[in-house]
Amino acid sequence: MRHIFEQGTSAGAPTLVLLHGTGGTERDLISLGQRISPGSSLLSIRGNILENGMPRFFRRLAEGIFDEEDLVFRTKELYDFLDEAAAQYGIDRSSFVAVGYSNGANIAGSLLFHYADAFKGAILHHPMVPLRGKELPVLSGTPIFIGAGTNDPICSASETEELQQLLGGAGADVAVHWENYGHQLTASEVHAATKWFEEHF
Ligand code: MLT
Repeated sequence: MRHIFEQGTSAGAPTLVLLHGTGGTERDLISLGQRISPGSSLLSIRGNILENGMPRFFRRLAEGIFDEEDLVFRTKELYDFLDEAAAQYGIDRSSFVAVGYSNGANIAGSLLFHYADAFKGAILHHPMVPLRGKELPVLSGTPIFIGAGTNDPICSASETEELQQLLGGAGADVAVHWENYGHQLTASEVHAATKWFEEHF
């Protein structure tokens, strides 16, 4: 997959896996990653789907209606890529923490729904429930930060609560931070995510 790898300076810090929103690229979240964990290695990935010229991580049929078959396929594709990248760059695969926004948060959520060892933790900015009716792997103690909007037109507050319950029910340690700015990723949400990261890693 097309990506950027930036070697970090702190040996023990987790590697951040950066996953952009619809229409973004692997460049978008580099400064966010540097802000959240200045010493971390960054692995920033571009989604393999193009929707009217806009990169995404999986296909959708309409806004908020996902192509589930493609989602499952792309989830495995990304999981395999993370293994390959760890080997290629000589980084500890078990130290990967996801940082995703919108579509990128949704593929990160799907990885958590499919694999117990996909991530050591995750920061999900404005995620949705990636798919329903699936038994989740055991995520005991996996720290997960969800940044959500009380008035997010793409992900309702009740969907955020549903996601929190699903991940929490699988044993994850979920913190939800609420904002009031729709689907936007605001500076105050980034500040909350950074603080959460410092407390957990
Ligand atoms: C987006 O635009 O990224 C979304 O509405 C969420 C998604 O399609 O995964």
